[in-house]
Amino acid sequence: MGFFTRDIKTMDDLFVHMLRDIYYAENQIVKALPSMVSKATDPQLKSGFETHLKETKNQIVRLEQVFKLHGVDISGVTCPAIDGILKEADEVAGEVDDKAVLDAALIAAAQAVEHYEITRYGTLVAWAKQLGRNDCASLLQQNLDEEKATDSKLNTMAESRLNRRAA
Ligand SMILES: [Fe+2]
Ligand SMILES: [Fe+2]
Repeated sequence: MGFFTRDIKTMDDLFVHMLRDIYYAENQIVKALPSMVSKATDPQLKSGFETHLKETKNQIVRLEQVFKLHGVDISGVTCPAIDGILKEADEVAGEVDDKAVLDAALIAAAQAVEHYEITRYGTLVAWAKQLGRNDCASLLQQNLDEEKATDSKLNTMAESRLNRRAA
């Protein structure tokens, strides 16, 4: 389903649609992360992905709470953007033989995912507040904070060690 479907009439509809988009995305990420864990060589990177897999499962629980608070069905809507990001990550990883270069590629792919999530949660928090749903906003803010922290950890790993090791 495209982003602008005819059933989106109000700001509230738009909010629920984007909630379903990120719900789908998080569920795809949960499916993709185990393969990133198994492909990563650096122990810190591997455990970073494992930690984020646990966080992601918890983020899904928070999203389900947001659906309930807002009084709508828990459901996802296909998000072609995350499908594309994850597909590209898989393809790039499949083409890299050198373990150190593969780690650098995995970090870049993971950061693309985090940045996608950050833009979605940033919007969702702003819209939830605008709609007077501070209860939803605070749950979405917790997810946003975790994505930002993950992105920053990945950045530090890449810039302090792993890019150099790969070069
Ligand atoms: Fe997430
Ligand atoms: Fe994430």
